Order: sequence, then structure tokens, then C-alpha cells
Amino acid sequence: MGTTRHFRVWRGDDEGGSLNDFDVEVNEGEVVLDIIHRLQATQAPDLAVRWNCKAGKCGSCSAEINGRPRLLCMTRMSTFTETETITVTPVRAFPVIRDLVTDVSYNYEKAREMPAFAPPADLAPGEYRMQQVDVERSQEFRKCIECFLCQNTCHVVRDHEENKENFSGPRMFIRAAELDMHPLDARDDRKEHAHSDQGLGYCNITKCCTEVCPEHIKITDNAIIPMKERVVDRKYDPVTWLGRKIFRRDQINQ
Ligand code: SF4
Ligand code: SF4
Ligand code: FES
Repeated sequence: MGTTRHFRVWRGDDEGGSLNDFDVEVNEGEVVLDIIHRLQATQAPDLAVRWNCKAGKCGSCSAEINGRPRLLCMTRMSTFTETETITVTPVRAFPVIRDLVTDVSYNYEKAREMPAFAPPADLAPGEYRMQQVDVERSQEFRKCIECFLCQNTCHVVRDHEENKENFSGPRMFIRAAELDMHPLDARDDRKEHAHSDQGLGYCNITKCCTEVCPEHIKITDNAIIPMKERVVDRKYDPVTWLGRKIFRRDQINQ
């Protein structure tokens, strides 16, 4: 037997909008995305929302629920009290297209700037071999579903549009860390790239990105902090500095 619950849903476009009030039926076991779909079916047929899998795997239904960045399809209605008003707004760090749909191109632009995996020149595909321990180390980062909730949460860009040009964000830092740890990646300038071109130095390890990741990736502890430590090692360790001077490895990969 369903109950009626109160929702406030942001509606508008890139020129502005407002929160609209709705009373909607809610049934046992439903998630917030079910309610948005019911709204579309009964009261707001043109309400725009992006979704695909309804299983927490495509990363497309990111929004803010009661001000917290979350996946609509993985937020159970049972997590709210019976009398609570549930407010659904678009993610804040990206420009609104319409209603709950935002333009996430910033993330794809930053992904395109990332130097691709560079396999060793003397090995043909099929000859690559890795230790299981190396596979497992990067596996955590490969769980990323590209929901961009971490990007949306990061204070460096959330209220500072002007930082986007120089800051790639936590999702890109885990990709940088994954490639840096990859035993078959021939580039050795991943750390320098993260520091100079991706804006790793803007991050002050607040861990907010880690807190909202639906895949529970330890973004800060396992990717950002190790990358920051290795940047420091590489820049200030005299032995590393001397080795780079002698072997001039950086030039090989430019
Ligand atoms: S830990 Fe760094 S990347 Fe993550 S939210 Fe904080 S400042 Fe942003
Ligand atoms: S790291 Fe987590 S929060 Fe960030 S895009 Fe990937 S899955 Fe989403
Ligand atoms: S609809 Fe795919 S993650 Fe929510």
C-alpha cells in the first residue's frame, strides 16, 4: 500500500528556474528515480532527467538529493523519514541544460587531455604480461562509473568556475594514479602531468570526493595522496633528481 510523500524538484533551464512542489505516491522498495518516473507519468510529462541502467552502473542519474550529491537510482526512499520533504536538484558544478539534466562536457574535455596508456614499444599486443598484484592494485580505480559526483562535490570547482581551466578533478586523478602504477605504461611523466597540467596542487585532501563516490573508491587515500607524495619525492629527492639528469628519461617521452 503506497503513501503520499512531498517532493520539491528543481525545474528550469540555463536561464533560470525554481523548485516545484509535488505530492507523489511512494511504494515499498522504491528509489528516488522511481518517484521521478512517476512524476513524469502523472504530473510532469516533460520533466527532464538523465538515466540509463537503474542499477548504479551507468553513472548517468547523478543529482543532488536534499543537497547531497547522489545517484537517483541508488537512493532508497526508506532512507528518509515519513514526513520529510525530499528536494531534488541538478548537480551544481555543471551547467544546467534542463531540469535535472546538466552538461557534463567539462569532464570529457579533461579526459581528452589525459595522455593515453603508452605500452612498451618493444612489445606487441598479446605479449603484455602483468603480475596479478599489479592488476589488483589498479582494479579499484577501474570500478569508476563516471558519475562525476566526485567532480561535482570538489570545492575547487563547485563554487569556482574559474578553476575549471586548470583543474581536472578527482576522477582524472584516479586515472592518472592508475596509469602511474601500471607496470606496462612506458611514460614516466604522469606525476609531473598531474601536478603541472591537471592541477593536483589545488587539492587540499579534504576527502569530500571520497565520501560521495558510489563505488567506494578511496580516491584521496589511494590515488591523490600517493600521487602527491610521489610528486614531492621526484621533485625534491636529490638521488631521483640526479638519476633524471643522467638518464634524461623525461625527454624520451616528450
Ligand atoms: S580531496 Fe581534493 S579532489 Fe577530493 S574533493 Fe577534496 S580538494 Fe577536491
Ligand atoms: S570516482 Fe567515484 S564518484 Fe568519481 S566519477 Fe568515478 S564512480 Fe563517480
Ligand atoms: S541510472 Fe545508471 S547509475 Fe543510475
